[in-house]
Amino acid sequence: MIKARNIYKSYASLEVLKGVNIDIFKGEIVSIVGESGAGKSTLLQILGSLDSPSNITANGTEIRLNEKSFLEMSDKELSKFRNKNIGFVFQFHQLLPEFTALENVLLPVRIADQPSAYTLEKAHELFDELKIAHRLHHKPKELSGGEAQRVAVARALINDPKIIFADEPTGNLDSKNADSLHQLFFDLRDKYDQTFVIVTHNLGLAESTDRKLVMKDGQIV
Ligand SMILES: Nc1ncnc2c1ncn2[C@@H]1O[C@H](COP(=O)(O)OP(=O)(O)OP(=O)(O)O)[C@@H](O)[C@H]1O
Ligand SMILES: [Mg+2]
Repeated sequence: MIKARNIYKSYASLEVLKGVNIDIFKGEIVSIVGESGAGKSTLLQILGSLDSPSNITANGTEIRLNEKSFLEMSDKELSKFRNKNIGFVFQFHQLLPEFTALENVLLPVRIADQPSAYTLEKAHELFDELKIAHRLHHKPKELSGGEAQRVAVARALINDPKIIFADEPTGNLDSKNADSLHQLFFDLRDKYDQTFVIVTHNLGLAESTDRKLVMKDGQIV
């Protein structure tokens, strides 16, 4: 699913990533753990095409999602590619406050311009699956933290992305809500063969994933 080689990232003289190689296979749930500042979020943003590695040519950097290299794409091509292939879940749900839960979930669809009957059906299926069907028309401030985070997961899934990147998705939830969101990731994998890469400080979650990668000082050790 993902094949990445020689990822480097520097901010001025600060080297944040120092040659990361990573392979992710379809249907896998991979966790990335490591101390604060190790470079986990930076790596996730780069793998998710939201940020670029440094000195791609000199470092021989390669990142492929299903054989397709996205490093050379124009911004326009890249937004389209990202919208179609990649879903994100962040620590804070980042739902838009003026829109309802359903409208938030449908936002990526407007960009991709898919047929509305199919996507509406898909949205309702996701709301059922994520047990938030009763909160469809509520705005984010009327949702609990766990509900808002599940809406964010539905938004990440609406375009049937190939892969979902989650950066501390349960960092802001109590342990009960965190556990149920973790269970949800596994259910979605079982049901849709969905692939997840999850950065987490939750060691229980990390131990239960298929593969735990440890980052230290800009490298996977
Ligand atoms: N835009 C930026 N400009 C300068 N330095 C940055 C920038 N983004 C990140 N850094 C630095 O890069 C290093 C790695 O940051 P990153 O956010 O990837 O760490 P992390 O492993 O996700 O940490 P945490 O567990 O605290 O989220 C840190 O030292 C951080 O201060
Ligand atoms: Mg981080």
